[in-house]
Amino acid sequence: MSNSTDLGGNFTLLGASMPLKRMGYGAMQLAGPQVWGPPRDVEGAIAVLREAIAVGVNHIDTSDYYGPHVTNQIIKQALHPYPDGLVIVTKVGARRGEDKSWIHALSRQELVNAVHDNLRNLGLDALAVVNLRVGGMAGPSEESIEEPLTVLAELKRQGLIRHLGLSNISSAQFAEAQKITAIVCVQNFYNVAHRIDDRFIDGLAAQGIAYVPFFPLGGFSPLQSSVLDNVAASLQATPMQVALAWLLQRSPNILLIPGTSSLQHLRENLSAATLQLPSEIIAALDSIGQSANQTAT
Ligand SMILES: NC(=O)c1ccc[n+]([C@@H]2O[C@H](COP(=O)([O-])OP(=O)(O)OC[C@H]3O[C@@H](n4cnc5c(N)ncnc54)[C@H](OP(=O)(O)O)[C@@H]3O)[C@@H](O)[C@H]2O)c1
Repeated sequence: MSNSTDLGGNFTLLGASMPLKRMGYGAMQLAGPQVWGPPRDVEGAIAVLREAIAVGVNHIDTSDYYGPHVTNQIIKQALHPYPDGLVIVTKVGARRGEDKSWIHALSRQELVNAVHDNLRNLGLDALAVVNLRVGGMAGPSEESIEEPLTVLAELKRQGLIRHLGLSNISSAQFAEAQKITAIVCVQNFYNVAHRIDDRFIDGLAAQGIAYVPFFPLGGFSPLQSSVLDNVAASLQATPMQVALAWLLQRSPNILLIPGTSSLQHLRENLSAATLQLPSEIIAALDSIGQSANQTAT
């Protein structure tokens, strides 16, 4: 089992005092199938959260539109009153349709309601970090984010939010955002096979801004690669552990939030922080992203 000393080291968000362990936990998988309704095993979901915290994870990623509301309610049931130093990062900017679709919800009223829903369902007086989610799951679009971000900046001034981040954004939208308010983190789709944000990550690292990849294990389409399988076998690790270790070594500003509803997978994922990848293995893994990019173009 992992312990609190081997979670990939620390990273402190700009303007925050508490360091985050680089190995965190993404809570989306705790809702029911298709991120809708309650999970089949609520006690199992609670056990996953409690074990993550017990071994030292202090960064949980969530949203009130997971379930909707269900994931935040389970987090509250499992962990409230929250231990000192736990940072719960949430997202606003989307809602769920009756058909389980993911719909933009970026109007002033929708954003204000979403912040209050998160506060109520998590049982908090202020949200530590709120990401404004703008693009779609597959990638960003290039519309201006000034209006919705200005609403969140106001809620931050009112004390309901401590720090702001952005999700599903381009580097141009990030530059626009920085003229409006301080941004501490970016959450975009990135993993060993999906490397569109390579240059963006390096630019954020230079500014001390965290990059938090979603779908670090491939998300709804788990990573599949013979290179990953062969490397994992050579290291007596699993392919998912190698994918997470690669991310930790990719850049010091990368924070991980792998999602799982399974205690076994949680333990496996957290242990990946102890896996050191030698340079020749990193080079082999880099070829996965290159060939994936060639296939896409
Ligand atoms: N900003 C956004 O738009 C956005 C979008 C998507 C997700 N997110 C956030 O990012 C977090 C991570 O993304 P994600 O959960 O969608 O994708 P992910 O972490 O890439 O993968 C999760 C999937 O991998 C499986 N898995 C986890 N660990 C495994 C292991 N060791 N071996 C084999 N399978 C394993 C999980 O199933 P089991 O439950 O069976 O382990 C689940 O099906 C989410 O929890 C959410 O907080 C944000």
